[in-house]
This record gives sequence, C-alpha cells and structure tokens, in this order.
Amino acid sequence: MINFSTVSKRYESGQEALGGISFDIDAGELVFLTGHSGAGKSTLMKLIMLMERPTTGQVLVGGRNLSRIRKSQIPYHRRQVGVVFQNHQLLFDRSVFENVALPLQIAGYQSREVGRRVRAALDKVGLLEKEKHNPITLSGGEQQRVGIARAVVNKPPVLLADEPTGNLDPELSAEIMNLFAQFNAVGVTVMIASHDIDLITRLDYRVLTLHKGQIIHDGFLPKGDQHG
Ligand SMILES: Nc1ncnc2c1ncn2[C@@H]1O[C@H](COP(=O)(O)OP(=O)(O)OP(=O)(O)O)[C@@H](O)[C@H]1O
Ligand SMILES: [Mg+2]
Repeated sequence: MINFSTVSKRYESGQEALGGISFDIDAGELVFLTGHSGAGKSTLMKLIMLMERPTTGQVLVGGRNLSRIRKSQIPYHRRQVGVVFQNHQLLFDRSVFENVALPLQIAGYQSREVGRRVRAALDKVGLLEKEKHNPITLSGGEQQRVGIARAVVNKPPVLLADEPTGNLDPELSAEIMNLFAQFNAVGVTVMIASHDIDLITRLDYRVLTLHKGQIIHDGFLPKGDQHG
C-alpha cells in the first residue's frame, strides 16, 4: 500500500531529512514511526500526502507512483490519505459538525450524504452528541477526536497521524490509539508518528525507527524494554 524505494529528501536549505530509505507497508497494516526530533518522521509523511516531493527515489501509494501525480491531481490523492496532526487544525468559528463536514463539501458531496457520513464519523469517535458545539468548548482529547473524525470522514484507505497524542495525558493517549486500532481492524492502513515509546511498546505493532534520516530498525519491539 505504501512503498518507498531509496527515497531521499533534501530541503532547499540543504538539510538532508531522509537519506535513501526503502520500506513496504502492506494494505491493512498499522505501523508506528518513531525516532528523535528531526529524524525525518514528518518529512516521510509529507511525502506520502504530497506536501513535499522526494529529491531522489520513488514513493508508491496504492500502487500509484506519486511522481506521476500532477499538481492538479493532488486533491484527489489527498482524499485517499486521511491525515491527523498534533495541533488538529480545527476551525474555531465553526461547529464540530461543520469541521468534520469540510472535506466532504470540498469533494462536492450532496448535503444529505454529508450529514449521514459526518454523523457516522462522529459516532465512531464517540462525539455524536457534540455535533453542534464549537470545538473551542471541547477538551484536548475531544478536539483530537474531532480531528480524527474529519480525517476518516471520506473513508480513506490510508490514515496518517503525526504525533496525534503529543498534548494528551497517558489515558487519553491510549484512547486515541484505540481509535486508530479500530480503524485498522476494519482494514485501514495506518501510520502513526510518535515519540511515546512507552505507549508504542505496550501495543504490539510493527515499528519503523528513523535516525538522522535512516531506518535503523524495522519490526516488533521486545515487550520487556518498556521500562529500560
Ligand atoms: N521545510 C523545511 N525546510 C528545511 N528543513 C526542514 C523542513 N522541514 C524539516 N526540515 C529539516 O529536516 C529534518 C527532519 O525534519 P522532520 O520534521 O521530518 O523531523 P521529525 O522526525 O518529524 O521531528 P519531530 O519529532 O521534531 O517532529 C530536520 O533536520 C528539520 O530541521
Ligand atoms: Mg515531526
């Protein structure tokens, strides 16, 4: 579903963020991406959602070579890839419902279909009763769940989350991870960038570890390491 083949990324500043990495993620996998600050995690995700282009190498998503996707086709590509950020980027002058509806409206859905899908997404994240609220009145964890509902509302086959639990306490973080696991359980390919090594070790998923733009580990972490 996601294939990197000797992908490097050098920003215009000269900074090399990724140094020729290769990996494959199958459809239906859930993978954590970890590594120090500046290791290249966000850059890797930006390549998948076409916010950045690689300097060398190629990226395939769902079998499509992203280098063949022209600028005008990027919005279509982004509908295949749901994205959740740490600072969820909600609009505070709109209701919860309107925030989640946004991607569907941009995609041109009829309003009845918008309502149906938005309520289904809010229901999945447990926020159906808050649809009329302004997101500013919600807790941090609730706001993050609104961001997740918005990311999954048009049922993308791929879901990327960049530090989705960065601002949350351990209990809420676990709840958010549970949500991702649920989407994964129904077939969504999920990639989560996270510093939270404790949380990652407790969950038994594949982990890709970046270090200075290189993959230094790809596989499952030994469970016993969580207090080391
Ligand atoms: N737009 C940019 N222009 C220039 N350099 C950049 C840009 N974005 C990132 N970098 C650099 O690329 C490297 C990788 O950055 P990236 O944001 O991918 O790291 P990260 O692993 O996500 O870090 P963090 O855990 O702090 O979010 C860093 O050295 C960073 O300074
Ligand atoms: Mg980052």
